[in-house]
Amino acid sequence: MTSLPPSVDLSGRDGLPPELRVLADLYPREMWQGHANFPGLTAFWLEMHGKFRSVMDELITGSQGYLDGGDPMRFGAATSRYTGFFLQGLQGHHGIEDNHYFPLMVEFDPRLVRAFDILDHDHHALHDHMNRLAEATNAVLRPLQDGDTATDQTARLLTVQEAFRGFLDRHLTDEEDVVVPLILEHGEGRF
Ligand SMILES: [Fe+2]
Ligand SMILES: [Fe+2]
Repeated sequence: MTSLPPSVDLSGRDGLPPELRVLADLYPREMWQGHANFPGLTAFWLEMHGKFRSVMDELITGSQGYLDGGDPMRFGAATSRYTGFFLQGLQGHHGIEDNHYFPLMVEFDPRLVRAFDILDHDHHALHDHMNRLAEATNAVLRPLQDGDTATDQTARLLTVQEAFRGFLDRHLTDEEDVVVPLILEHGEGRF
């Protein structure tokens, strides 16, 4: 895998570079829902992304709530369950994109080869962030189970979760700007 310039790396970019917005500019977000090719795959894809975003929000709210005096048992149980669900779901989602959708989609428009390369790099970067999130979560759950308050570890977990939310949202938003216009243009039957 080749390395990317910092301007398009997940940690350094603030959107797709203009030259990769060929289809995104033809299909701005306001027109997605009303398009004939929106129901089905596109709607499902966006719903999955919405779930990942909302579980991440829930996790952050949970950590903040605990630091503000919330119940340790409830916080530990919810954090364990939702983090497991989140990491497993995201890994499966990346697997389907990497192994099925992206290899098919990249064939449809040579102008988007670099966009899919960026998304592929994102998945690798997110994989490292997912490991960091799992480690920071376990660093809270272990002492909690032993009756420790784990306050310092939870403050650190909150920092990791908030950073993760930023990277995740950047990836999901840019991926939507690549994938949704492509499905609207070609129809989901092609994928
Ligand atoms: Fe993705
Ligand atoms: Fe995705």
